[in-house]
Amino acid sequence: MLVVHIRDWPTPVQFRRGTILDAALSGGVPVPYQCRSGQCGSCKCQLLEGEIEHDAYLPEALSERERSNGWVLACRARPKTDIKIDCKGRLEREEPVPIRVRARVERRERLTNDIIRLVLAQEDSSLLFKAGQFVKLRFAGLPPRSYSMASLSGHNHLEFYIREIADGRVSTHVARHLSIGDPVAIEGPYGAAYLRSSCTKVIIAAAGGSGLAPILAIAREATRNLMPCPLHLYFGVRRESDLFALSALAELAERNSRLSLHIVLSDQADGNTAFRTGFPNEAISLDFTDLSQAQVYSAGPPPMVSAVARTALALGAQTEHIYSDPFTNDQAAIEPPATSMITRGLKLLSRTLGR
Ligand SMILES: Cc1cc2nc3c(=O)[nH]c(=O)nc-3n(C[C@H](O)[C@H](O)[C@H](O)COP(=O)(O)OP(=O)(O)OC[C@H]3O[C@@H](n4cnc5c(N)ncnc54)[C@H](O)[C@@H]3O)c2cc1C
Ligand code: FES
Repeated sequence: MLVVHIRDWPTPVQFRRGTILDAALSGGVPVPYQCRSGQCGSCKCQLLEGEIEHDAYLPEALSERERSNGWVLACRARPKTDIKIDCKGRLEREEPVPIRVRARVERRERLTNDIIRLVLAQEDSSLLFKAGQFVKLRFAGLPPRSYSMASLSGHNHLEFYIREIADGRVSTHVARHLSIGDPVAIEGPYGAAYLRSSCTKVIIAAAGGSGLAPILAIAREATRNLMPCPLHLYFGVRRESDLFALSALAELAERNSRLSLHIVLSDQADGNTAFRTGFPNEAISLDFTDLSQAQVYSAGPPPMVSAVARTALALGAQTEHIYSDPFTNDQAAIEPPATSMITRGLKLLSRTLGR
């Protein structure tokens, strides 16, 4: 078995499969990362010894010059020999170490045409995580998939909102075939778009569809911690019939006078609704003129997450205070992207950066 040595980390980690980042996180080393798909550059480390092979990535994430100077993206690189890397002292020790936990299905209910609420009861140890993080769930015989917790750390039960995708292997299984008591293997937590412990002026939290899961967790944590900043939660869906978890949101708003809820419908432009219409980023730009002191969280479909980041940047938000959680397909993060995907990704990234 190959071994990955990480400078400033006392013990080497074993490489079984996946990428250097997978090996590091499984070994409990908090190498920084965000997109896990070669688009953001957060996981850049320097290869000091050994050989790797590198999957495709965006040039914005790693320039040719950096690559020829030995820099690699931990989320896209696989060791071919034992290796040593240096993440330049950027190991973030604030994030909980991923572990494996066994759980059973406690509850499964359909909330809308395509949203399922799933509650898992942990069997052995209890997962520690930050509000906004996700885990990989593995149901019998199926590949793992990432799902974000809507509930908070410290409880035996974990709550998820899962969107059923037509022909989706795992989401269809969850929606149609899962039974109460079925075993589920959990690995995590993962993710860097979690609620930071301090806030400056205002928190913007935007969700599209099932992206409400991590955003609800963020709002719950901000409420539990009595965070002093106003929190504006934007929840975007297509039509009124797609709305879910409204009672959980209303209960939070009742307990937290600093929480403002904004429901935004994108396919109801006929005005035949009491809710706002349009997209979350459009509502944000109508409500704010200056986000330079804001923390901005967004989760859900990648185009929505990217549009929120673009809007926030245009309103002066600092890049380091924008925490994006695009619900990409897990396979896309593992398979090298085809050229057309790279082109699309490039456009997405340059739009995100406002260029
Ligand atoms: C960090 C992270 C957190 C996530 N959190 C959640 C969550 O809380 N709730 C949730 O419902 N999902 C979440 N997802 C998405 C989830 O991991 C799966 O990708 C999704 O459930 C589809 O898996 P599947 O096996 O059903 O589909 P697959 O069998 O993998 O794919 C079937 C088809 O659907 C397409 N597809 C896959 N995913 C999507 C998608 N998200 N939107 C549109 N088309 C898609 C594929 O390209 C393919 O054509 C998250 C993803 C990431 C990366
Ligand atoms: S985590 Fe974004 S490039 Fe690796």
